[in-house]
Amino acid sequence: MSIALKPETTRVEALKHLGEIFREAGIETAQRDARLLLLNATGIAHTDLLSGARVPLGDAAAKLADHAARRVTREPVARILGEWEFWSMPFTLTADTLVPRPDSETVVAAALIGLKDRRHAADGVRVLDLGTGSGCLLIALLKELPGATGVGTDISQGALEAAQFNATRNGVAERAHFVLSDWEKNVEGQFDVIVSNPPYIADKVIEGLEPEVRVHDPVRALSGGKDGLEAYRAIAAALPGLLKDGGFATLEIGSDQAETVSAIFLKAGFTIEGPYADFGARPRAITVRPKAA
Ligand SMILES: C[S@@+](CC[C@H](N)C(=O)[O-])C[C@H]1O[C@@H](n2cnc3c(N)ncnc32)[C@H](O)[C@@H]1O
Repeated sequence: MSIALKPETTRVEALKHLGEIFREAGIETAQRDARLLLLNATGIAHTDLLSGARVPLGDAAAKLADHAARRVTREPVARILGEWEFWSMPFTLTADTLVPRPDSETVVAAALIGLKDRRHAADGVRVLDLGTGSGCLLIALLKELPGATGVGTDISQGALEAAQFNATRNGVAERAHFVLSDWEKNVEGQFDVIVSNPPYIADKVIEGLEPEVRVHDPVRALSGGKDGLEAYRAIAAALPGLLKDGGFATLEIGSDQAETVSAIFLKAGFTIEGPYADFGARPRAITVRPKAA
């Protein structure tokens, strides 16, 4: 599809035009997406948009038209821009990484709650992120915990390279280490805090997802096997050998999985804290701790 934007088209006209085209394409976040693409193509801040709504697009018209045409095919804005914000930090994305979701910030917040007074521990908290993807969970925690060090694992070498890049980009590379591993298999040592946003979508559900997710997110970041719970079973079996005394794990869950995931960890000998809700008030994370002997 070719999109008619001319150098003399004003910013406000472009926003209106793209909003309409995106709505017709079935995009729920049509107006937000039009704004994000316009800000990127013009290189201006949101406040400049308010004060300069009637400024013509000029040279930005061609880039904006090209990006808008990609969005109409349901390529996500994050993929078009090649980066996305998480925990107020920029994360570079590749085809190997999931786009970090705002919902996953619940995991970071819940892990910080779990640490309580250990947040500023002088001895240095050790963090493990199983299935690190872009590195967003680990990097956000290292940013919040200046004395902490951490390990991120993934089964995808491409994802680990992106995570390493993001650790450097966000100033925590000296405290982060990334390991190619099937969950914990190649991980050494024990940890105070373990976080994970494992793949948790049941296989038969994936084909019904929106194209932004089904076509553009890596399938191994989505697929939780037949019932969506395979990764939780693997993690429950691995945790006892990975946690230091007093350690805990905070896990992202699907909004309808609080009971099923909790049942797996209760059966494996853990107590459950949460569920912690995301910004949409849906259950999104639980914290599990080994029962006292
Ligand atoms: C839902 S994504 C989460 C990525 C990132 N932590 C986030 O929150 O955006 C799950 C990640 O787990 C990784 N993964 C899937 N199976 C794995 C396994 N067996 N061992 C390690 N990582 C795995 C995927 O490659 C993917 O990066």
